[in-house]
Amino acid sequence: METAFSLPRSPKLHTNLPGPKAAALILRDRAVTSPSYTRGYPLVAAKGDGCMIEDVDGNVFLDLTAGIAVTSTGHCHPRVVAAIQAQSSQLIHMSGTDFYYEPLVDLAERLAQLAPFPINDQGIRAKVFFSNSGAESLDGALKLARYATGRSRVISFLGAFHGRTYGAMSLTGSKAVQCHGFSPLVPGVTHIPYSHAGLDYLETSLFSTVVPPSEVAAIVVEAIQGEGGYIVPEDGFLARIRQICDQHGILMVVDEVQSGMGRTGKLFAIEHWHVQPDIVTIAKGIASGLPLGAFLARPAIMTWPPGSHATTFGGNPVACAAANVTLDLLQEELMDNALLRGAELQEGLRQLASQFPGLSLPRGKGLMVGIDILDAEGQLSAKRRDAIVDQAFYQGLLLLGCGKAAIRFCPPLVIDADQIQTALKILATVLAKNPA
Ligand SMILES: Cc1ncc(COP(=O)(O)O)c(C=O)c1O
Repeated sequence: METAFSLPRSPKLHTNLPGPKAAALILRDRAVTSPSYTRGYPLVAAKGDGCMIEDVDGNVFLDLTAGIAVTSTGHCHPRVVAAIQAQSSQLIHMSGTDFYYEPLVDLAERLAQLAPFPINDQGIRAKVFFSNSGAESLDGALKLARYATGRSRVISFLGAFHGRTYGAMSLTGSKAVQCHGFSPLVPGVTHIPYSHAGLDYLETSLFSTVVPPSEVAAIVVEAIQGEGGYIVPEDGFLARIRQICDQHGILMVVDEVQSGMGRTGKLFAIEHWHVQPDIVTIAKGIASGLPLGAFLARPAIMTWPPGSHATTFGGNPVACAAANVTLDLLQEELMDNALLRGAELQEGLRQLASQFPGLSLPRGKGLMVGIDILDAEGQLSAKRRDAIVDQAFYQGLLLLGCGKAAIRFCPPLVIDADQIQTALKILATVLAKNPA
């Protein structure tokens, strides 16, 4: 299938950065947009093709961010573009809350088959609610957990990121700036460390003192912490949460907004641990860049009545059409590619860690990979991390930080072996100029 245009497959920089058009746009942007946005380096994107981004001055960058882990099938995959074009020439909106249309049903059927839950006697694993974003999916999941259990309290984790709406923000435990000044938050949430030690504290201290387990609706957990630093949980951690939930009638809600939709080489990262939760939230990679989120629940849990939860835009026909093709592409080859390329990336990062002091070993699964940046004393260094991410941009490589001092690698899942090597080469150049 033809792309409308194609970009070179490695970085090409023609101007100083930012170039003149980018600099002018950034000035206009700063005058009128919220200062809460967290732009680091001055990238002004104009076009995307696979793993490449062209800026408004014609500079081409290798993108290892995928627009924060979103463009799973690459920027403007021709089959996704064709599906969007075809659907938008037929029906752009009708509201799945009040009416029926086929792309939504198709997608819900597929997700209901693929959900990481047991199959029920009607042959389905899940019921699906469509939203517009990750945060909305978390808010909906929180409402459903409270509704289904009749309980109010929730356990979530330090380091967790679940979004910016009041419900999702209240579950978040990542950075103080994300909640500072916004109190009171949704009551009833208790944060514990994302570790076996945290679960020990829950079971031996909290449950017997201030958080009666019979009042807990849900434990909400990321299968791999994203914004918190690309933290892979300890062995047995997720299975132990399942066990605690079973013991006390608590629902296990797994947030797969960042780790889901094939990024780790499985459709849902939780599948790596063979744990079956009760509710799963997804968004980001599900529709290759169109705004779409969802939460999936075991059918026996999603029994709330008409009107109890709804949304105007969620499950928009164009977004669902994009998601249906995204699922095809993930299943045909991209989940496999995520595993292969992820292994190459981790191997390359291990070599860099042996070559350059001040680099942790890589961690992650598939193409959800993180490393920590350290200073000369071996301490986490956000300052050095920010300098590396910034200078990579000036070499044509787009990266994002996360956690205290981590760099996250979350490229489009179409990345090829040469592009992984190009990224590692640029990173090596930048590291050589930024010793610990
Ligand atoms: C794990 C996780 N949950 C929820 C969210 C919130 O998603 P959104 O920004 O689409 O609201 C994010 C966003 O980074 C996330 O990483």
